[in-house]
Amino acid sequence: MESRDHKGQAVPLDSSRRSFLGVLLGLASTFVGALLAVPVLRYIFYPLTANADDSDWTEVGSVASISDVQTPLRRTLDLKQRDGWRETASQPVVYIIQDGGKLRALSAVCTHLGCTVPWDPGRNEFVCPCHGGTYSADGKHISGPPRRSLDSLESKVSGGKLMVKYQYFRPDVPYKKVIS
Ligand code: FES
Repeated sequence: MESRDHKGQAVPLDSSRRSFLGVLLGLASTFVGALLAVPVLRYIFYPLTANADDSDWTEVGSVASISDVQTPLRRTLDLKQRDGWRETASQPVVYIIQDGGKLRALSAVCTHLGCTVPWDPGRNEFVCPCHGGTYSADGKHISGPPRRSLDSLESKVSGGKLMVKYQYFRPDVPYKKVIS
């Protein structure tokens, strides 16, 4: 490389000036590269860094509208679950019950083989349509093939809304074990 003197004649750049420009160029390239890498890394690690607290909870409804529930109240959730980069939607059924003055949520999945269990107001119990398993109004197993009671779900009140942490549990075992 060369520069020009006041008469317009070519003058070669000294080596220290050239090396300074080289370092400057290298730093600028590194800086730009780092800037471009940020969104790529955020995309790659999104499933690991996504805020699980927000996505785990699903709204059931306002507490005011369900607080005087006398018999199990059926609600269908609008659930979105993330598995890595894949998001799946489902509409599982839950029942809201009163338990000692507090609202509690039950999964409607039969603990035998996973059929959705409806509440039978005539019999005042849950009756599974698949193999006839029955549960009391608070979800306790009464009769039939299920080996445990209906699974209760974590719930909380936030901003006047009842929120449920919906989970699936292993069927046909006598204990409650989360599978997703
Ligand atoms: Fe409910 Fe079998 S699936 S009793």
